[in-house]
Amino acid sequence: MLPLLRTRVPGPLSRVLARQLRQHECWNTTFVSPDWPIFWERARGSNVWDADGNRFLDLTAAFGVASVGHSNPRVTTAARRQLGKLAHAMGDVHPNELKVRLANELSALTFGRWLAKSEIRNPKSKILFSNSGSEAVEAALKTAMLATGKPGVIAFTGTYHGLTYGALDATAWNYFRAPFHPQLPGFTVHVAPTESAVRAAFEQSKRGIGAVIVEPVLGRGGVVVPPPEFLPMLRRVCNEHGALLIADEIFTGFCRTGRWFAVEHWGVVPDLICVGKAMSNGFPIAACIGRSDVMDAWPESTGEALHTSTHLGNPLGCAMALAAIGEMKRLKLDDRTRRLQDRLPGRGLGFMKGVKLPDAAVCHRVVQRLLRRGIIALGGSERGNVLTLTPPLTISEKELRFATEEISCAMR
Ligand SMILES: Cc1ncc(COP(=O)(O)O)c(C=O)c1O
Repeated sequence: MLPLLRTRVPGPLSRVLARQLRQHECWNTTFVSPDWPIFWERARGSNVWDADGNRFLDLTAAFGVASVGHSNPRVTTAARRQLGKLAHAMGDVHPNELKVRLANELSALTFGRWLAKSEIRNPKSKILFSNSGSEAVEAALKTAMLATGKPGVIAFTGTYHGLTYGALDATAWNYFRAPFHPQLPGFTVHVAPTESAVRAAFEQSKRGIGAVIVEPVLGRGGVVVPPPEFLPMLRRVCNEHGALLIADEIFTGFCRTGRWFAVEHWGVVPDLICVGKAMSNGFPIAACIGRSDVMDAWPESTGEALHTSTHLGNPLGCAMALAAIGEMKRLKLDDRTRRLQDRLPGRGLGFMKGVKLPDAAVCHRVVQRLLRRGIIALGGSERGNVLTLTPPLTISEKELRFATEEISCAMR
């Protein structure tokens, strides 16, 4: 369905709610101005309705989460059923069956598929579940420490890996790091994405580099696709130095770029992969998945897990993730996204596109104009000058045509 605006945007109810929120929520969190935000009330497919009854076309999938469409009927049914049975179990003590099923599914989708054609006879992997992408990154960093004994990590300029302290250490954006710099652990070296910079970082490290963490396609950093030799080079250099390659696919995973996982564009198998966002289509659940021999660096539990949390492997999240993955398979969203990728403007892969604009002010203006025309989009990149387009992967061809026309109008 195409947008339908009943009131000006933001409408009166959204404005009242914004004023109230500002009084009660930490004012650093939600940006409030006379033309921002709208308050979402419900959503279906690629459409969002706000508190004032306006209908919008969502070109963000709400931060890349709603890949199989908002309120996807099969995911919703799975969630309802599970909610009626069991909303919470004892994650690392007395868990629920769905955690087993999801772990099997994630293993099969990643290392199972990747290593099926290799010489490894029984390609096994293991999972560490978590509640957010940042925590999945924390789990990967801890795994690398245990598996290699080397604390150093190489990450790349422009990358975003999350904001909890371990993940923030790997995140490159100075904006997020600067206020907390004195508290950051400082195990990460940030380098330019070139072979010589990576090799120099390995050679100069005094404490030893145990991992290289990479976003296969820079997401929040402005949708930047690396040159074809970049990921294979990282794989080679990690092998030479006995370091792990961590693919942060929290944004790019689950068909977003037109492959199940973005590393598949370059045929690279990482040692660890972090996933989240679209995995459940809307429940906060994420995971770090690794080859068994790497994950077995964690000591076997004797009753007290070294890394866990209260909601780990939540059954509602597992039920939604299993249903969402089922939808991606049923609708062949990897193929569909690849087939339709050119219908969205900008650079990028699949339905992860970025339109570079002169500066942040222009980008902000385009985002505001689009909102007033009934389209939800976001700005991205460290400079804030990239219009970022990551719609639900189920977006219709008519909606794609409409979006493209509106974007070119808004940029004029
Ligand atoms: C590549 C990448 N890694 C990590 C994260 C952090 O995930 P979360 O916001 O769920 O903690 C994000 C979030 O946008 C991301 O895009």
